[in-house]
Amino acid sequence: MPVSPPRRDAVTADGPAILFLCLGNICRSPLAEGAARAAFDAAGFAATLDSAGTGDWHAGHPPDARAQAEARRRGIDIGDLRARQLVPEDFRRFDLILAADETNLRDARAIAPADATARLLLMLDLVPGRAGESVTDPYYGADHGFAATWDDVSAVASALVSEFASST
Ligand code: 4NP
Repeated sequence: MPVSPPRRDAVTADGPAILFLCLGNICRSPLAEGAARAAFDAAGFAATLDSAGTGDWHAGHPPDARAQAEARRRGIDIGDLRARQLVPEDFRRFDLILAADETNLRDARAIAPADATARLLLMLDLVPGRAGESVTDPYYGADHGFAATWDDVSAVASALVSEFASST
């Protein structure tokens, strides 16, 4: 039987390794991953990009249909992403773990291994003037919440590309 290639980039790829984190890994963090993939591609920078949730309820599921629709409206297909739960190894595999909100940050810290090398920040800490803010969870809200989520995560993606452009 043919062996499928890994769905996500190998962590050995050049460029920063960044993990986007939320609760379910079906709304905010896959949108952030999709926005970052598009931004790094457009800038011509290599990066290893992934996303995860602190919870495991949606492991193996594609992004929420509303998140997929919002990404599509912005010209990006996130339908091939599949949710997974954050694991301690992520703190050694990634340079940066970006959490959507304070609860995600606290839950991530609770499983960080003693030899963690990843920096753990809020996503919006990277966006000028928005440090300490959360990306609001659109899961239980109206569909227009996903447009606001996209705006937030695309600001994060732009800030990441600017940061890595100025550090290379
Ligand atoms: P996310 O949104 O953390 O942005 O993926 C949520 C998805 C699912 C649930 C909560 C938030 N849930 O309770 O199932």
